[in-house]
Order: sequence, then structure tokens, then C-alpha cells
Amino acid sequence: MNIKDEYIRFFESKGHKHIPSAPVVPENDPSVLFNTAGMQPLIPYLMGEEHPYGKRLVDYQKCIRTTDLDEIGDKTHHTFFEMLGNWSLGDYFKKESITWSFEFLVDVLKIPVNRLAVTVFAGDENVPFDKEAADLWESLGISKGHIASTTSDNFWAAGETGPCGTDTEIFYFRSEEEVPEVFDVDDERWVEIWNNVFMQFNRTKEGKIEKLAKKNIDTGMGYERIVAVLEGKTDNYTSSLWSDVINLIEEISGKTYAGNEESMRIIADHIRTAVFISADDAMIKPSNKDQGYILRRLIRRAIRHAKKLGIDINSDWDEKIALLIIDKYKNYYEELSKNKDIVLENIRNEKNKFNKTLEKGLREFEKKSNSDIDATTAFHLYDTYGFPIELTLELAKERGLKVDLDGFKEKFKAHQELSRSASSGKFKGGLAGNSEIETKYHTLTHLLNAALKQILGPDIHQMGSNITSERMRFDYNTDRKLTDEEKKQVEDIVNNWIKEDLPVYKEEMSKEDAIKSGAECRFIEKYPDIVTVYFIGKDKVISKELCGGPHVKSTGVLGNFKIVKDEACSSGVRRIKAITEGETNEKK
Ligand code: ALA
Repeated sequence: MNIKDEYIRFFESKGHKHIPSAPVVPENDPSVLFNTAGMQPLIPYLMGEEHPYGKRLVDYQKCIRTTDLDEIGDKTHHTFFEMLGNWSLGDYFKKESITWSFEFLVDVLKIPVNRLAVTVFAGDENVPFDKEAADLWESLGISKGHIASTTSDNFWAAGETGPCGTDTEIFYFRSEEEVPEVFDVDDERWVEIWNNVFMQFNRTKEGKIEKLAKKNIDTGMGYERIVAVLEGKTDNYTSSLWSDVINLIEEISGKTYAGNEESMRIIADHIRTAVFISADDAMIKPSNKDQGYILRRLIRRAIRHAKKLGIDINSDWDEKIALLIIDKYKNYYEELSKNKDIVLENIRNEKNKFNKTLEKGLREFEKKSNSDIDATTAFHLYDTYGFPIELTLELAKERGLKVDLDGFKEKFKAHQELSRSASSGKFKGGLAGNSEIETKYHTLTHLLNAALKQILGPDIHQMGSNITSERMRFDYNTDRKLTDEEKKQVEDIVNNWIKEDLPVYKEEMSKEDAIKSGAECRFIEKYPDIVTVYFIGKDKVISKELCGGPHVKSTGVLGNFKIVKDEACSSGVRRIKAITEGETNEKK
């Protein structure tokens, strides 16, 4: 059974129109590099516009998520994936959505009811417990013990603003063991397979939650995951969806998957995504900016891992894999056949470019690898040998070495190759350039956030921020001006922390642990599963925030902090502009 086809057929039988997948590069949304969810191309319609195909839609959408590009190599991550989705645009709501999801899973996919469990929204100060959803699930036959509720995991939004809502998530018990009577969200044998969002709110720029004119349904089911889960695989790359690609890589390399999983997964995943980016009508070419840079990184990383497997990288190994992928998907995505030559040309040209320097670059890296990699070496590898910084980081990690990333970024910026989009932050943690002073303002932003909480209360949060080499800007939720005295207190708190020269350090942790630790974060759902939390403080942690950095190493270098303005920004939001001035400990 082909789940993708069955899914479309099932929802067509419920009056849905099958709409084509939108391109991977969004057509009208320059704020993101790629579509990351099925609903993204549908935002105007979820907001109220009429969709030409009507009020019930179904599709499989090509999605690309690059936030965890460097995580690829494990069992479950993919940069490209297909999301199966069905939508109601102001038409049916919870009852039909839940009933049909149940019917599809139980009647079509033949999943025993007992192996399913769900979560619903637990309720908070704004929105009550979703009893309706819980009752609906129970009426269908999901036992009470298999219905749980959460707040943080049962509210979904694609971004900081736009349509959002509470949701119900469906889990499948993937294990040979006996199904427990009580469902535990943290028990990893339960895998989330489907998310039904009751999209009835809009989050405004000011962070306010307003009711949308119409109540919508937005659902998403990751195709790669559901296939693997139903085949009982814990490693997605061993499911039937990937077996032919992995077999081909085994054949080309003469090695087995067992023992070479990481490199084979990276090659399979990266070539597939490179094929889909290249085939998109946006005609992306490998380059040093935006989508082109992602494409370059994918191809170069795949080449590096092919070399690791002992593949002759000058042979046509990559084209063979690309052709297999085109063949597999061409009946679903016609652009693959149409743009086949362009896809092959992109891959070939990029490979030829990189192969010329890869060998020498690797030798250069080896020469320097008896100690941590300094900024000059990292930049030399980038500039002369075309090593994306992420490749240098990966090589260093394999050898337990550190890379002076901040130093690299400075050199990079000085080299004036920093693309506009990179500097505007699209590459979070990628090439985003930060000068020394901007890095200081990043850390000051965390200090200001923490100081405001001390003066105005724990409900104060960052609503936006902007940093230039001249100043920092910080938007926060409040409805009144700071008094002169409060302003002074905030400055004093920050300046005291600077005087104390508190260490700034980071830890990687799971999103759940970050939430549990009380780390400051807005729109947690936008973050990958593993997040970086920056801590400031010695005996007592005074700030904990999810953040990509970079930050200074200790607060002593931050100079003297001064608020120059506290002005109204929008309803319920005020904006502080602040500077740092004077000598810093560093210069002394
Ligand atoms: N838009 C929802 C998601 O991506 C369905 O999970």
C-alpha cells in the first residue's frame, strides 16, 4: 500500500480537492528560505482569503528544514521531507478532523486502536482545556488512559506572527512490547505521527492572540516518519522509502550500510534535497548566499562523505544517485523530469569545483589538526579550498577539536562576502556575521531582558530586537513607560553584572529540558529538538535563554550600559534603545 496515494484518495472521498505541492522555495515569502510545513503556502487562505480550489484541501507538500542540517546522519532527521496535510478553510472543524484522522489510521492503514494515543491542549490562562477534542477521541474508542494533555506541545504556530492554534497530536506505539494502559508522552516507544491544528487564532506583531474570522483545520503528517513507523523501523533510512537509495550507495561504495550508517544517510539525504532544490522553478544554483549556499553545503558535505566511504569522487556516483531519486519521485513532482538536466548540471559543476580543492584542503586541515583550529586556518580553508565553515566544524568535531568560529566570522565579514540575507539572520548559526561590538550587544540583550524582569516582573519578554554596531534595540511587552527611577535601576543592575565579570556559557540540551530549566524562549515550536541555551552567572545564574549566539565569554568586556530611549512601539509594546560606551576591561 502506498500511504501517500491512500491519503489523498481518502481525503478526496471526504470532499477535499487535491492541490499540487507548492515549490520548495516560497513564491511570495522572502522571510524564509524554504517552505517548512504544508500550511506555509496556505497562510493567506488560513487568514481568510478565498482559495480557488474551495474550502477542503489535501496535498503532500515538499518541505525543507535546514535548522538541523548538521544533525543529519542520525536515524530520524531529514533536510527534505514530504508533509501530508488536509485543510478546512472555515469549513469543518474538530469533529470531522478528529473522526477522519481516526478513520484513516484505523480503517485505511489498519492500525489497531490500542496502539494509538493522543494529546490535547491542557488549558492555560487564555484558552481552556480542550474537553471537546478529548471527548471526541474517547467517543471513537481511544481509551481514557491513552488521552493526555499538555500546554506547550499542544499549541502550534509556524512563526512569530500569523495563524496558530491549539492542536491534538496523535501517537503510535512502535514496539514489540505490550502496549501500556497509560500513555506517557515521554516514553519514546510512543512516536508522534500526526498533528491536527485547530487554527482559530492569529498572533499579531505585538504578540496578541486574536480570533480569526474563520475557524480552520491544518494537519500535518511526516511521510518519511509514518512509513518507517508502520514498518516498525526505528531507523527511517531502513524503511522501504530509502532502501533502494541506500542499496545503490552500498553498491557504489562496495561497503555495507551496517558500520557506515552516518555517511550513507548523509549522502542519501543531501543528494535528495539537492535534487529537489535544483529542480525547483526558482532555478537556484550553488552559491555563497541564501538557498544557493544551502545547496552548496549539501553537495559539498555529500562529497566529503562519499570520499570517506572510499567512493571515487570523480566518478558519476552522485549523478547515479540523483537519477534514481528523480526516477522515484517523478510521477509525483513533474519538475524533476522537466529540470533533470539542470539538476545533473548543478551537481556536476559543484562537484568539479569542489573536487579540485577538497584533497588539498583536507591535507591542509590535517596539517593544522594537532591543535584547535584558529580563525586564520578556518578562513583559509573557506577562502582557498572552498570549505563551508560547517564542514570545517564537522571535521574538527570528529577529531575533538574546537574552531574559533567568532574569529572566522569576523574575518569573513572583513572579507565583505557577507550576503545581505546572511547578515539579516536567515542562516541562524550559519554564516550570520557578527562583529565584536554586535556580539557585545547580543549579550547585553540577554542582560537587559533579565534586568527588566527583575524590575517589572517575570512576565516581561522580548518581543523583538535589532542590533547594529551603533546600538541595540529591544522591544518588550508592557503598557507603560519606565519611570526615570526604574530606568536607572535597570541600568544599575546591568552595570553591576558587567562589573562582576560573570561568565557566559552555553549548553546544548533537548527542547524539553530547556523548557523544564525555565530558559527564556518565545515560540519554542520553531526550534529544533536540540537547542542551545546561553547561561550568564557564576554562583547564581542570572540569565538563561535559548539563543544561537554568538556571545562574549564574560560580561566584564561589555563597557558601560546606558539606556538612551524608552519609547512606545506598538500597542502593549515598548522599545528600548541602548548603547554601551566607555572603556572595557578588555581594552585596559
Ligand atoms: N502545521 C502543522 C505542523 O506542521 C500541522 O505540524
